Amino acid sequence: MGPSIKTVDFLVIGGGVAGLRAAIELAPKGSVLVLTKDTISESSTGYAQGGIAVALSDEDEVCIHFEDTIKAGDGLCREDAVRAMVEEGPGYILELISWGAEFDREGSRLSFTMEAAHTRRRILHSHGDSTGKEVERALINKVRTYSSVSRYDFAFTLDLIIQDNRCIGATVLRGDSVITIFAKAVILATGGAGQLYSRTTNPMISTGDGIAIAYRAGALVVDMEFIQFHPTTLYSRGAPQFLLSEAMRGEGAVLKNIHGKRFMPEYHEMAELASRDTVTRAIVSEMVKTKSKHVYLDLTHLDKDFVKNRFPQIYSTCLQYDIDITEDMIPVCPAAHYIMGGVSTNLDGETSIEGLFAAGEVACTGVHGANRLASNSLLEGLVFGARAGKKAVSCIRKGNTGSTELESDKREIIASDASSPASFDAEKIRSSLRQLMWKKVGIIRCEKSLTAARNWLRKWDVIMNTSFNTRRESELRNMLTVSHLITEAALFRKGSVGAHYRSDYKSRGERWERHTAFVNAMAQEWID
Ligand code: FAD
Ligand code: SIN
Repeated sequence: MGPSIKTVDFLVIGGGVAGLRAAIELAPKGSVLVLTKDTISESSTGYAQGGIAVALSDEDEVCIHFEDTIKAGDGLCREDAVRAMVEEGPGYILELISWGAEFDREGSRLSFTMEAAHTRRRILHSHGDSTGKEVERALINKVRTYSSVSRYDFAFTLDLIIQDNRCIGATVLRGDSVITIFAKAVILATGGAGQLYSRTTNPMISTGDGIAIAYRAGALVVDMEFIQFHPTTLYSRGAPQFLLSEAMRGEGAVLKNIHGKRFMPEYHEMAELASRDTVTRAIVSEMVKTKSKHVYLDLTHLDKDFVKNRFPQIYSTCLQYDIDITEDMIPVCPAAHYIMGGVSTNLDGETSIEGLFAAGEVACTGVHGANRLASNSLLEGLVFGARAGKKAVSCIRKGNTGSTELESDKREIIASDASSPASFDAEKIRSSLRQLMWKKVGIIRCEKSLTAARNWLRKWDVIMNTSFNTRRESELRNMLTVSHLITEAALFRKGSVGAHYRSDYKSRGERWERHTAFVNAMAQEWID
């Protein structure tokens, strides 16, 4: 039996905040198919803790949110993108509330918390520290009101189908079969790539698939050297690398080294509320000085009931590992958290390939520059997911669909790919790759470490021409591609900006305000 073929108006790859918000925009205009490679709840969106930044409180203004975002981005934000996000953000949040999203309140008023590098309390949160679940719940419920939207879960997108630099669909692994899905527009919303690193806050689905498949299809990929490392994840034997929200520091938690000494005031005037890259590097510096694998996050001076009520998920998770956060200092260490770079888009989510849109963490609108301001990501997903959806609607008029001729060509390619045996140990390489990226392309990089990483990655190049049969193997191929892109971009930028820190080039370097870009064939260049 040959592989099956399906045709829809709009194919949305990813069911996190960006994909769902795009689907809502597309639903009234045609048939929409949303793909997720796991269950719908397995996404970074679902795990988001701290909240959503939005200038809605009485003490705040859109222009202050704009300034804070630009400052955190360390000179590399695209101002028009930031402006679109902070100006349109309040409207999208109010709309989300009208769809049933419930954010925590003090009396009848919305409650806003503080996070690092924000100069106002502007972070909305839900159930204390489970904001992502609530955002996802509201979006899924809204999507369900449209009969035009269907969903395939456990449907792994292998590659995009490109004809004359136009994206006309994707090939998808579902169970043991490969399906070819044709669409008038494709929206990539596949999230991030934290799983490239052995220490990460990201769920298992975050393997950089969207960046890799867009790159293979010839899309422009930019700013790949900028990986954000979250300062505080649980570091305890047998415990998961569980995120300890920045909101904890926003509510007064402090960082101490293993000797119990608070250190952040020595590193930055904003102390624990300095930007994420600054806090992360300060922690690394203390770990080196004290020859320790962690530091401590301390909330024990805060009111116990307040802590339990404000961070119920974190409280109960830590308790499972015998850490009572109201009484014990929490051992923490940084971990890979977010990728600022990705598939280059304009403000409407259009990529360099016609018919292909990208939104959310997979995309690089330039909104986060070299370092994302905390809690701007969910907002970005809402704003640019909707924008991409609105723009993709215009493809319906262009009659963008694959021909019968192409369908039969594709069938042959897929059939031969699916039958070749694998000849490498994907699990072993995956594990080695994640450690390599953490050790050599991590928080602090230099020519030597990056070149060592490059050499290892080149050794694994031989398997790139092998066939990839399962989801795990295909993920590995994507992880290798994205690791290459990050490593090459990090070598290319001989200077330190935002989250990209080179111990051999501590200053910004010449013409640092340009962006690194990859077109096909691993060629790098600078773009303005
Ligand atoms: P995701 O939510 O990650 O969704 C990706 C989707 O793509 C999934 O449905 C997945 O199945 C699908 N997918 C991936 N690859 C494929 C494939 N090959 N084929 C088919 N489907 C595929 N940001 C904030 O603003 N505030 C916070 O408080 C916050 N807390 C966070 C806490 C944690 C633990 C983490 C990990 C991140 C946090 N972030 C936070 C960041 C934020 O959650 C993410 O950047 C954002 O949710 C990304 O949304 P997305 O829609 O782009 O991708
Ligand atoms: C957190 O709660 O610390 C995560 C917030 C974010 O990544 O924006």
